[in-house]
Amino acid sequence: MSKPIIFSGIQPTGRKHLGNYIGAIRQYVEGQDRGDPAIFCIVDLHAISVAYDPVELRERIYDTAAILLAAGLDPERCILFRQSDVRAHTELTWLLSSVTAHGDLNRMHQFKEKVGKDRDLASAALFYYPVLMAADVLAYRATEVPVGDDQRQHVELMREIARRFNERFGETLVVPELLVPKVGARIMDLQEPERKMSTTGGTQNGTVLVLEEPDAIRKKFGSAVTDSEREIVRREDKPGVTNLIDILAVARGSDQAEVESEFEGAGYGDFKKAVAEAVVEYLAPVREGYAELRPDEAELERVFAAGAEKARKLADPVVAEVRERMGFGRTSL
Ligand code: TYM
Repeated sequence: MSKPIIFSGIQPTGRKHLGNYIGAIRQYVEGQDRGDPAIFCIVDLHAISVAYDPVELRERIYDTAAILLAAGLDPERCILFRQSDVRAHTELTWLLSSVTAHGDLNRMHQFKEKVGKDRDLASAALFYYPVLMAADVLAYRATEVPVGDDQRQHVELMREIARRFNERFGETLVVPELLVPKVGARIMDLQEPERKMSTTGGTQNGTVLVLEEPDAIRKKFGSAVTDSEREIVRREDKPGVTNLIDILAVARGSDQAEVESEFEGAGYGDFKKAVAEAVVEYLAPVREGYAELRPDEAELERVFAAGAEKARKLADPVVAEVRERMGFGRTSL
């Protein structure tokens, strides 16, 4: 069987959190050995869809690259690049917009959440965000998209865009599959476990950052919201405890049932301590690796340059074919 072509993107911020790590970054690292190729992109073009500062953006791109490398991405075994270095993404966005329904973009949960009440002030880029995301993936004819659960609707839309393109212009693009992890696809905020962990929409105390100091991590887990019972089991009416069980299972590399039986009869205090220690240990290599890698921006630029070159070689021919199918330039079809 042929290997999957894996593609995923991540926003450039230094404030990557445990949800990003468990839901996505962990899957990228695992995907390097399965994918041929495995392609990972720091999506700086997506980042301009909300208010931002250009100087800060550059810093955050390096932060994110250093986090990914420290987490175990190896530029020899994957393609790691910066989205804006590969022009195919922006060109394909425009081309795909012709087969994207305005109504579909209007229905995107993430758009609705981010727009908030001031719809008229939101940038057109925020509205277009899912089309750029579709272009990211379809430009590589990727077959698998490893993401957290919150990106499900975006992946569904890119599948629909690929199908519509193929129907309208002939078989050209690949309809990719969503890949969410079995455990940890949706890590919840520790303070408000009905909400997903997020640096923009979550609480500060409920969001554990990948680069956070061990003591800060311990504090956050210490004050994690549970419930008024004692039972350490996964259940719909126990979102706080369920979330902690998932986190511990992933951090230890065990499974949820094992965690439940180990902590049967234990108190929440001891349980939360165990989760905190496991997470501290889980993230320590990333924090240490980051401290080593982040200062060398020239090396990070070398990684980006090599990655972009490989990415262009894959994406340019696909976009050329899309152009031709759509009636641009001379045809050889
Ligand atoms: P970003 O940077 O916001 O999130 C990166 C990844 O982290 C996952 N994630 C979570 N997983 C579990 N629990 C959580 N609480 C949690 N919060 C975030 C996200 O699902 C994501 O996989 N739109 C994408 C970036 C993107 C992309 C792409 C992804 C741009 N182009 C093409 C895949 C393919 C995003 O919001 O990333």
